[in-house]
Amino acid sequence: MKVLSISSEAFPLVKTGGLGDVAGALPLALAAKGVQTKTLIPGYTQVMKAVTGLVKKYEFDNLLGEQGTLWETRYKGLDLLILDVPDLFDRPGGPYIDPKGKDYEDNWRRFAVFSLAGAKIAAGCLPDWKPSLVHAHDWQTAMTPVYMRYAYEREIPSVLTIHNIAFQGQFSPAIFPALGLPAHAFMESVEYYGDVGFLKGGLQTATAITTVSPSYAEEILYPQFGMGLEGLIRARVNAVHGIVNGIDTDVWNPETDTFLARNYSLKTLQQRSTNRQAVAARFGLHDDNSPLFCVISRLTWQKGMDLLAETVDELVRLGGRLAVLGSGDAALEHAFLNAAARHPGRVGVVIGYNEPLSHLMQAGSDAILIPSRFEPCGLTQLYALRYGCIPVVARTGGLNDTVVDATHAALTSGSATGIQFTLNDTNSLLYAYRRAFKLYEDHKSWTKVQKQGMKTDVSWDASADAYVALYSSLVAKGQ
Ligand code: ADP
Ligand code: GLC
Repeated sequence: MKVLSISSEAFPLVKTGGLGDVAGALPLALAAKGVQTKTLIPGYTQVMKAVTGLVKKYEFDNLLGEQGTLWETRYKGLDLLILDVPDLFDRPGGPYIDPKGKDYEDNWRRFAVFSLAGAKIAAGCLPDWKPSLVHAHDWQTAMTPVYMRYAYEREIPSVLTIHNIAFQGQFSPAIFPALGLPAHAFMESVEYYGDVGFLKGGLQTATAITTVSPSYAEEILYPQFGMGLEGLIRARVNAVHGIVNGIDTDVWNPETDTFLARNYSLKTLQQRSTNRQAVAARFGLHDDNSPLFCVISRLTWQKGMDLLAETVDELVRLGGRLAVLGSGDAALEHAFLNAAARHPGRVGVVIGYNEPLSHLMQAGSDAILIPSRFEPCGLTQLYALRYGCIPVVARTGGLNDTVVDATHAALTSGSATGIQFTLNDTNSLLYAYRRAFKLYEDHKSWTKVQKQGMKTDVSWDASADAYVALYSSLVAKGQ
């Protein structure tokens, strides 16, 4: 089977969050199952600089008025197709925001053009590579199934994965004429509360919809999580599948990870202490035996970071230390920097994005705090499980599906891998902290939970099987 995966991010070339990790790792896992995947990404400045050995595959002469070159290359095991449209993608700044942190005003056009290129490849424009199925990710590529529906003859199935339904690509209806779709496509597909909705259009037209955990697949049937799209998700419920993310266990392997101060395994857990000291030193924390909590996150409301900032004093009062790595809302960045100033040696903060440091923190912290209000899957708890860092997580979405709460029963049966709590308000966090401290004091149980986490299969293996089964059934139905 040949799959065209279309994504606005792919690790290690471009990543702003979990989408990048998934789009970078899933094709490798699929390859091991005999699925040949090519990944289409935009030719951002950083991408064009990083890749070598480009071979010209195709010239698009009219993508909504743009000319574009399609390059092919291989990068760290990924077969890439790169859409090079310098006007749209060769810019300073991130994939979606300018250097000042503002969304590019033409994001709708950038990702409509990108999605259209995906649809043309799906339609068979490349003479020597015709995919059997298209897999699009999030609103940035959600217009691909829309273009596939309206513009082309060769019909192949499409899968659209929702990584986060909060990001919908909703734009003024004034852009509709510039999308190059027939007039009836507005009401039929993309119209969303009077606007143009890219994710809405994709959910309406994709053959199948997946989201990144079984729990989130249930949650988005309701307004609290569906965020306006719950009606459509309900209408298409038979096409919706929840497949939990895995992680790249080669990139995230405590035995070989070059970002650690010391490598270790399940059998040499005591060697984590060297990493613990390194984390403390990096964050200016006292080097003592108190539990070291960490946060590696976008600092946003989704991630519950306001509630965490409000309860830092209590975490310290209970005797904990806290290392925070993240960036996001300015008010939250300040709140954490203030907490560090209030608690020298107990709270340390690094504002920014730092991949190597995130590895060291997983290897050296005792526990990671993830109090998300909603979490489609979440990857940091999976890295934590693999690294013997105990996840303390809100019971929602993928966090619910991947962490086994250390209840009495789970501790007794040996299945516990972390701590879960129901997130309502700051009291929920205080309750979680107290449970974490209690477990930490019981060294034997703590170690047992750590080891059980490290034994958990967080690889892509089982989930790649689930994708293969879904792809195969769609391709079979289409024939
Ligand atoms: P989301 O995609 O919603 O941000 P995930 O947990 O799925 O959440 O993925 C976040 C990814 O980004 C993980 O790989 C995590 O380690 C990484 N990450 C988040 N913030 C930072 C940061 N400040 N520095 C380095 N890595 C980060
Ligand atoms: C999104 C979600 C996160 C998920 C990631 C990868 O960014 O917020 O929960 O893990 O996508 O699927």
